[in-house]
Amino acid sequence: MKVLVIGGGAREHALCRSLSLDPDVSALYCAPGNAGIAEVAELRPVDALDGAAVAALAVELGAGLVVVGPEAPLVAGVADAVRAAGIPVFGPSAEAAQLEGSKAFAKDVMAAAGVPTARSYVCTTAEEVDAALDAFGAPYVVKDDGLAAGKGVVVTEDRAVARDHALACDRVVIEEYLDGPEVSLFAITDGVTVLPLQPAQDFKRALDGDEGPNTGGMGAYSPLPWADPKLVDEVMELVLQPTVDELRHRGTPFSGLLYAGLAITSRGTRVIEFNARFGDPETQVVLARLRTPLAGVLLNAANGTLDALPALNWSDDAAVTVVIASHNYPGTPRTGDPIEGLGDVAAEDAPDAYVLHAGTRREGDAVVSAGGRVLSVTATGSDLAQAREKAYKAVGRIKLDGSQHRTDIAAKAAEGR
Ligand code: AMP
Ligand code: GLY
Repeated sequence: MKVLVIGGGAREHALCRSLSLDPDVSALYCAPGNAGIAEVAELRPVDALDGAAVAALAVELGAGLVVVGPEAPLVAGVADAVRAAGIPVFGPSAEAAQLEGSKAFAKDVMAAAGVPTARSYVCTTAEEVDAALDAFGAPYVVKDDGLAAGKGVVVTEDRAVARDHALACDRVVIEEYLDGPEVSLFAITDGVTVLPLQPAQDFKRALDGDEGPNTGGMGAYSPLPWADPKLVDEVMELVLQPTVDELRHRGTPFSGLLYAGLAITSRGTRVIEFNARFGDPETQVVLARLRTPLAGVLLNAANGTLDALPALNWSDDAAVTVVIASHNYPGTPRTGDPIEGLGDVAAEDAPDAYVLHAGTRREGDAVVSAGGRVLSVTATGSDLAQAREKAYKAVGRIKLDGSQHRTDIAAKAAEGR
């Protein structure tokens, strides 16, 4: 099977890496890709938001499966355009992707499906904002309704900061604060059958100790030794299956990757957000542990035949990924800096540790930074402590001027806290 992956971040590199190891994949293409993905897939230039262009490329390549990685093309209807061209596609329709594209839509679906989530108000005026902020009190949680690459959410004790963020958005969701650890649980679905993957934890804040601003994610690990072994079953029953059923009943079935961002609160598990695609950087650790060849799983989801798939096979290894970000991320990042040490990681740390590229591009012989999150260093080990050690050893070999990374990814979990 020939597979075309749309996107060009570390998530797509992780997807391409797994697909490149799958014996059923005869040719692998990525559009637009990045400097690291070029080592495992043939890159094609494309405007990933242009459905007609992506569909034409898939036809030209004779692709038997298209995998749409990021949310923006999904919300723009790229999966619909590929499906209309008669090619199986892994990724939801534009309508179903509103689960991620609009926080207000997601809240409506959850209310209809009885899915536990934070109480919330959708506000469009200053009066509504003030009333909602006062109704919940501090800490305030203020979310831009639309897509914001993980940066549209402000959680703060400061009412003035919360209010300013709310008034800067056209439409805003203000909600109850949820305490407790966060878990990301991904499920692959064809719109009817739901197949959960292994849970992971993401580190959203920029700085050690969960300080600093929200980011797209600074690191992740899996499995979660502290989590209740019944968590996946519980989330399947309370969240994933009811949500998939609700979207099907609305006539907008969701097929692709349903990402539940969860808070494990003292009053039970609550949904913080849904995403309509694999999460980054959790995908890097989840796929590092998946033994079942990936292409068949994604193709069965695309074709509506997930019920025919045998149970997934998982490695007992633990996986940790650490993101290396540019100077000033998550503000406007500095780019164009050369990255050194990639060859050293390949020579010294492979296959247990490897680099997945996020924002990189090739300039002559050099690989240079080209985005906020630049690289994601992923490692596996017999437990989290070993995976962590290997990941940080590899991180230490990489030189990127002004770069930043967290030093505490998976630290608490590895110590049994
Ligand atoms: P989201 O984009 O909705 O995932 O929000 C980004 C991050 O903001 C989440 O991962 C949480 O850390 C935090 N957050 C979002 N909603 C809440 C909430 N209701 N209570 C506490 N923290 C939240
Ligand atoms: N890891 C957060 C996200 O993918 O949105």
